[in-house]
Amino acid sequence: MREIPAAVRAKALDIGASAWLDDLPALIEGCARDWGLRLGDPFPDATEAYVVSTTRLDGTPAVLKLLIPRPASAAAHEIEFLHLAAGRGCSRLLEHDATRGALLLERLGPAMADLNLPQPERLVLLAALATAVRRISFPFTQSASFPAADFPPGVFPTAVFPTAVFPTAVDRAERFIRYIGAKWNELGEPCSEAAMKQALAAAESRRRAWDPGRAGLAHGDIHQWNALRTTTGSFKLVDPDGLVAEPECDLGVLMREDPVELLAGDPWDRCRRLADRSGTDAQAIWEWGLADRVATGLTLTVAGVQPVAAQMLAAADAIARSS
Ligand SMILES: Nc1ncnc2c1ncn2[C@@H]1O[C@H](COP(=O)(O)OP(=O)(O)O)[C@@H](O)[C@H]1O
Ligand SMILES: [Mg+2]
Repeated sequence: MREIPAAVRAKALDIGASAWLDDLPALIEGCARDWGLRLGDPFPDATEAYVVSTTRLDGTPAVLKLLIPRPASAAAHEIEFLHLAAGRGCSRLLEHDATRGALLLERLGPAMADLNLPQPERLVLLAALATAVRRISFPFTQSASFPAADFPPGVFPTAVFPTAVFPTAVDRAERFIRYIGAKWNELGEPCSEAAMKQALAAAESRRRAWDPGRAGLAHGDIHQWNALRTTTGSFKLVDPDGLVAEPECDLGVLMREDPVELLAGDPWDRCRRLADRSGTDAQAIWEWGLADRVATGLTLTVAGVQPVAAQMLAAADAIARSS
């Protein structure tokens, strides 16, 4: 019987995927058989998937990731994204099976989070990874005559799965609005009303700003636990949401992270640095940061990830007070 990390078990039960948990041992064995894998130890820090170190028959180090099934075809988006990235800035996809929610990935080294890098240095490295993602050629952003009208929000056909579509920045903004609206009350108002309203207004502003002409591939969750060291000392991303968005969307995630360091100075300084380095719009980064900070602060509160959940919401409160 293979050990399943407690957080993965809890998450699966929370979203009603107990049948997946029951089937997991057979699923693991099936992938190992079909892809010729020798299984090692599971990664204890996984939350959304069972992730286990493996070795292929030819000795290649790899990682098997089996996603907890979720309604919005998360596995198809992750597979599609990594397929398009083809190893650039991201872990290489070696095998995939969307039906089983299974990915076989190039095995990378430790997470940036475990390397004790100073926060400003991490910010530069993560922003560079966001730029690398942005450069991934994406079938619907290559053509000069990009037919914006043919691709309204939520209708971006993907390459591996012609029937699947990437979510867009509009979907993300709308999900933030729904989630913040519901959870702020449910959790007993864990941040100020002003911070909650500011987050909702920011998400609404980014929703309205949707412009297919500026849309490209985005990772959706670039942070120091999803950036792993390669053998050459550079970093590659894992765990993409996979969406189509303006470039500021991924940079907004970097505004929500490291909330204590953010408050130590003027929060706008980080935002302006990110905008200047990438030639993007500081106001748009700021707004994605406002929305993502509260949405993720609430998500982490639900998951009991403290003290970071409280720190994110405290940052939201402080920024709302000073606005
Ligand atoms: N390609 C990889 N190489 C090495 N470790 C990995 C790889 N992919 C994932 N991991 C490890 O598994 C953990 C969880 O994987 P991740 O894809 O981030 O799933 P989750 O959605 O649960 O965060 C990572 O934080 C990392 O420790
Ligand atoms: Mg992760």
